[in-house]
Amino acid sequence: MADNLTPPPSGNPLRLGVNIDHVATIRNARGGDHPDPMRAAAVVQAAGGDGITIHLREDRRHIRDTDLNATMAAISLPVNLEMAATGEMLAIALRHRPHAACIVPERRAERTTEGGLDAAGQDNHLAPIITRLNEAGIRVSLFIEPDPRQIEAAIRLKAPVVEFHTGRYAHLWLDGDKAGLEAELKRIGDAAALAAKNGIEPHAGHGLTFDNVQPIAAIAQLAELNIGHYLVGEAIFIGLENAIRKMRLLMDAAR
Ligand code: PXP
Repeated sequence: MADNLTPPPSGNPLRLGVNIDHVATIRNARGGDHPDPMRAAAVVQAAGGDGITIHLREDRRHIRDTDLNATMAAISLPVNLEMAATGEMLAIALRHRPHAACIVPERRAERTTEGGLDAAGQDNHLAPIITRLNEAGIRVSLFIEPDPRQIEAAIRLKAPVVEFHTGRYAHLWLDGDKAGLEAELKRIGDAAALAAKNGIEPHAGHGLTFDNVQPIAAIAQLAELNIGHYLVGEAIFIGLENAIRKMRLLMDAAR
């Protein structure tokens, strides 16, 4: 199993983790077992993706416990389990021991993870959960805003990885707000540099697309991007394998 020192399986300098949650969303719309997220995970592997990301939400709206079981049993790529900081999810993570666990904020009514985890505001709640995951050899990542206060909290909490929420960046891109976009890119770049300087590996993700990925991929300290919704959407038009390969090419070209 990969650890902090293992180079990315594909040797790519910027890893691509593919979030397959929304394959399960489509499956669940009809209640059957098609399309199967496991088939998507096999395509990710064939297409040169570096990892599988799945978010087991409290309400199981997309990925279910059986999907997690199947992923852990059948997929040799590193699995990144996105999870809320709850006792239930901690027990599940400790039982399955995925390569990584990304702690995300979770609100029942939200459509998706809208904003980063307030690590700075919940040290006491997060500390024992992170300690247990660290002790189990699960690489902890905190999904936070690119904000120095949150990075300082990650340092205090001994999280080896942070993932910067790029949702604000993606919105500014859609709005065509050039000045806002430049400021947000600088915020993400500065945050990546601060994390790396403190020995924390920075990742990024949320709302990334073929159009907006390259300025983020160009941030040298970033080691991994996690991308889901756009790739699953684009798979309708060009196929999942082609969508992943194209994202990979765009990311590599930006480095
Ligand atoms: N990273 C994290 C921590 C997430 O929660 C999500 C969304 O589930 C993503 C990355 C991927 O975002 P998107 O589906 O918008 O690409």
